[in-house]
Amino acid sequence: MNGQTAAPSYGQVLRLDELLQAARVRDDDVDLVLFLATHQSCEIYFAVILRHLEATRAALDAGDGRLAAARIKPLPVVVSTLVRQFDALATLSLDAFNTIRTDLGDASGFQSVQFREIEYFCGVRDTRFMNTAGFSPADRARLQRRLDERSLQEAYRDFAAGCGDRETTDAVRAALLDFDEAFALWRARHAVLAERFLGGATGTAGSEGASYLWNAARRRLVPDVWAVGMTAVS
Ligand code: HEM
Repeated sequence: MNGQTAAPSYGQVLRLDELLQAARVRDDDVDLVLFLATHQSCEIYFAVILRHLEATRAALDAGDGRLAAARIKPLPVVVSTLVRQFDALATLSLDAFNTIRTDLGDASGFQSVQFREIEYFCGVRDTRFMNTAGFSPADRARLQRRLDERSLQEAYRDFAAGCGDRETTDAVRAALLDFDEAFALWRARHAVLAERFLGGATGTAGSEGASYLWNAARRRLVPDVWAVGMTAVS
């Protein structure tokens, strides 16, 4: 086969040259490699989650509950793979973690714009995060757009109000709660991990560390959907 007309190779389809160029996998310190590459991998999955959530809202707005449930269905499994990534980080020694922490300065997952986008897109409306140190004007503009658009839980509310089929609305609600439940477990695993390494110390973003994360674990992405009982939707 002529090389010029050949179908894109595996590496080309995945843009591996660019991806591995950007990946933090070349540092001498392999503990740092694990730490940073894990965060990068989580950010890729945050992007995947956002795309699925957008597709879920579009399906709800189109009145297609079966499609909405199908779009959200992979997300609890995706989130559980992120929980496993915390398990890998828990294998770091305290010395290795402390060395990494010193290198990090003020940088923290707290500055993850995509994480806040997920929260805002779903229905969390805590605007205090807009003031997070380290967010650029472009980051803030992205988050403002998320705050201004219809949330996923509002899309579910309107879908449920207009859908005469209880079985379908209950199935969509269950899928949304499965996702939110998986996220709550991610938050709790994160808090345990922080406690393991930080004890009672503050985080690199200046929060109360594990204690902040335990409080955050009570946050729900779609609180209004939790508040509606199965039988209340008719
Ligand atoms: C040993 C590993 C980790 C430790 C000790 C840790 C610790 C912390 C702490 C203490 C905070 C609170 C903010 C602060 O003061 O810094 C935080 C926030 C955060 N971290 Fe981590 N983290 C770890 C790994 C990760 C990973 C792998 C991710 C994936 C992207 C991540 C994402 C986040 C996010 C999104 C927040 C904001 C949470 C919220 O506001 O609810 N963290 N982390």
